Amino acid sequence: MAEDLTVLIIGSGAREHTISRAYENSPQVRKIIVAPGNDFIGYKRQKEVITDKSCSLKNPNSILEIAKKYKPDIVDVAQDDALAAGTVDLLTQNGFRAFGPTKHASMVEWDKQWSRNFMERHGIPTPQFRCFNSEEQAKTYVKGLYEQEPSKLLYVKATGLCAGKGALKSKSLEEAVTNIEKMKLFGDAGKTFLVEEGLIGEEFSCYAISDGNNYKILKSAQDNKTVFNFDDGDQTGGMGAVSPAQVTAPISKEIEEQLIAKAINGMNRERIPFVGVLYVGGIAVNGKPMNIEYNARWGDPECQVVLPSIKTDYAEIVLSCLEGRLDRTEIEQDNKTRVCVVGASRGYPNDYKAVKGKRIYGLEKAMTMKGVTVFGAGIDVRDGKFYANGGRLYGIVGEGDDILEARPNAYSAMAHTFIEGNNLHYRTDIGWRDVERFLRKL
Ligand code: GLY
Repeated sequence: MAEDLTVLIIGSGAREHTISRAYENSPQVRKIIVAPGNDFIGYKRQKEVITDKSCSLKNPNSILEIAKKYKPDIVDVAQDDALAAGTVDLLTQNGFRAFGPTKHASMVEWDKQWSRNFMERHGIPTPQFRCFNSEEQAKTYVKGLYEQEPSKLLYVKATGLCAGKGALKSKSLEEAVTNIEKMKLFGDAGKTFLVEEGLIGEEFSCYAISDGNNYKILKSAQDNKTVFNFDDGDQTGGMGAVSPAQVTAPISKEIEEQLIAKAINGMNRERIPFVGVLYVGGIAVNGKPMNIEYNARWGDPECQVVLPSIKTDYAEIVLSCLEGRLDRTEIEQDNKTRVCVVGASRGYPNDYKAVKGKRIYGLEKAMTMKGVTVFGAGIDVRDGKFYANGGRLYGIVGEGDDILEARPNAYSAMAHTFIEGNNLHYRTDIGWRDVERFLRKL
């Protein structure tokens, strides 16, 4: 076993804070750098954990400079823009061991048109879709659909990266037309867009880690993507998550066969092996899993509830992926339930400029509570005090033996936190489906 490893993690959110914890728990790891990171990541750590903001996630050369400065043994490229920009390729060409898919392999996330066509080539169940780069053609297409079915559920989706906000729901021709017109707001990411059949069912996220040939299934989670309770309001990067996702239990074999194995094997056959964490965004429709999207990295906030369940040394798992020996590595995961509630600036995901610089109270108390972990995203730390600097500010994870134990742990810790001027927003319904399922069994 190697010792004294230095790990560089690329990203800046609560996901990267969570990943840094997993490496911190590894007996092999001595030092962790998170770039660009956020101030909270380095706050009160057991091991040496520092952040270095002198890079841009969209500029692989700036990340290479950071790698040259710290000479890490592993670079974990955890963030989607960095993957899409070819950071893994550049680092590898320069002799670093970079964990994450190449630019080509991460196309499964950053080019949804390519990804849908890949799914079709490999028989992966996915909703019906059409791609457009002309507003007029798309409008004619949706007009035809709504003539046949006036309240049809459709999604209009940018094919590029949009921080989780590029999927717009339509239940009428007027909404679909407005959403088609909104695609240009996403710039290059929305130049080509999908019009996709909306499916009715419960969504889930599933995770697998792969060395390109072999994969291991990790736990599932359920994200809550809209800003307000009960799936209302605008799409966000994710306002809370629960793991495991109960809806996956009866269909786990099909999820593995249809959505995970076909993707890993298909990418391998196409000579673009996927090394890294594969995120399957799925939906259960009448007891059958369908794929809505693939992502090429951990989800955020799903990572906060899935990764802490892994008991095996995470650095060892990542090294086994980098060395192509994942088949010989056992991954042990616990049986706990975890609930993450995201604390955001009031106004997120739209206008939250007024919250920047406001003081955040109560995180110190939340951090000391039993069964609770706090992961930081948009937080500045000055003189030991916390200040808002972003949309999603922190994620509070409560854990327990079941949802009835984990959920109150998360919410009672969240209740201790507050943002100057009453500027804290969080959803109060995270985990409601699982609470109902649990109570029905009593
Ligand atoms: N939580 C959604 C994502 O990470 O894309």
